[in-house]
Amino acid sequence: MSPRPLRVLTGITTSGTPHLGNYVGAIRPAIAASRAPGAESFYFLADLHSLIKVQQPARVQRSTLEIAAAWLACGLEPDRVRFYRQSDVPEITELTWLLTCVAGKGILNRAHAYKAAVDRNREEGVDDDAGITAGLFMYPVLMAADILLFNADRVPVGRDQVQHIEMARDFGQRFNHLYGEHFTLPEAAVEEQVATLPGLDGRKMSKSYDNVIPLFAPREQLRKAVFSIVTDSRTPGEPKETEGSALFEIHRAFAGADETARMREAYAAGIAWGEAKEQLFERIELEVAPLRERYDALVADPAAIERQLREGAARLREEVATPFLRELRAAVGLHDLSQPLAATGGDAAGAAAAPPQFKQYRGDDGRFHFKLVDGDRLLLQGEGHDSPRDAGQLIARLRRDAGAGLRHAGGGMVHLGDEPVGRLGEAVALEELAEALARFAGDQA
Ligand code: TRP
Repeated sequence: MSPRPLRVLTGITTSGTPHLGNYVGAIRPAIAASRAPGAESFYFLADLHSLIKVQQPARVQRSTLEIAAAWLACGLEPDRVRFYRQSDVPEITELTWLLTCVAGKGILNRAHAYKAAVDRNREEGVDDDAGITAGLFMYPVLMAADILLFNADRVPVGRDQVQHIEMARDFGQRFNHLYGEHFTLPEAAVEEQVATLPGLDGRKMSKSYDNVIPLFAPREQLRKAVFSIVTDSRTPGEPKETEGSALFEIHRAFAGADETARMREAYAAGIAWGEAKEQLFERIELEVAPLRERYDALVADPAAIERQLREGAARLREEVATPFLRELRAAVGLHDLSQPLAATGGDAAGAAAAPPQFKQYRGDDGRFHFKLVDGDRLLLQGEGHDSPRDAGQLIARLRRDAGAGLRHAGGGMVHLGDEPVGRLGEAVALEELAEALARFAGDQA
């Protein structure tokens, strides 16, 4: 059994029309990453999340079509990556409920988006929860279900989403603690070097600032948008500052190093703003025109996209979501009444004592730890790892080898082959550890 490939998963909320900021900051880097070998990528349209913000049905539908077409036009290969629509996978909503029942309400109270909404209400002197839906409040639980259902290792997100990933870890951990190790605990991957693109007014390009350049506007409209980028009042011939110039930054996001150097020289030499805008427009157009052509063709045939999304979801359900949810349902006790639950860690039949459990957590040192406990008894205190994935893989090996290959390495340390695994609990013998691990054999997830 070779370790499974790294699972990378991210959702795209289907509100709005894709703009150049989405392209540079999310679509382009994600598609490049999906081509790297050794990873299994999951990209999905988070249409259930969009309902929290957008309550105009036609806009929800249109945005879903546009965003799906944009990703496909930009080179997403549905044969190589998992590409699907959240609402086509009902296991996500079902898991949302299972997680809701372990999620701490106090944790949700601290979610940035919810707190910001409450703060706005306080400023306006109205009731704390005025106009706030339970959907906004529950947003992090739905997002945790997106991630945990597919046991994603890594979740590339913007900085504003990191808290949500921490919450997904927390809910997953609580579930694992109660019901046994079912979920991989995900890690957020914040791309530090991916630039956030400035918009027309120099602030971050964002729908909420109304300063965006649409990604697939027709050529003339793109030109017009580029010409409306705010510049200072320096006249032709006057040297211009690249520092703080939105025009320069947007150009840089499309140009290679040489072109960027030439633009920098042109600024120093006093290029006229009109000329710089013309060059920027041509540079964007060079990259975007072939994508736009594909996009227009895709949008013109929505039935083909619909088919592709449905097929993606059907495969994913069959291969992953449906069997995993069956396991999770059994884990919590939603199970065939004629089948005892002992094998899944429940207390049915009363005979089998609860099996030992691996618990994963993040230590005060920021590293990812695990331990093996049998009831209250600590059998093994694992070493810290750089990522939850490393810890998870070691746990998988320990379970698989069922106690074989363990040895004392001095000072209470235990090795598996050459690899340091951790320290035995107090008064725990190596044999006891091996026996506990042997109890995992045969209980294949
Ligand atoms: N909340 C994310 C955003 O606004 C979108 C999203 C939904 C997501 N579900 C997800 C991202 C799961 C990563 C993983 O950007």
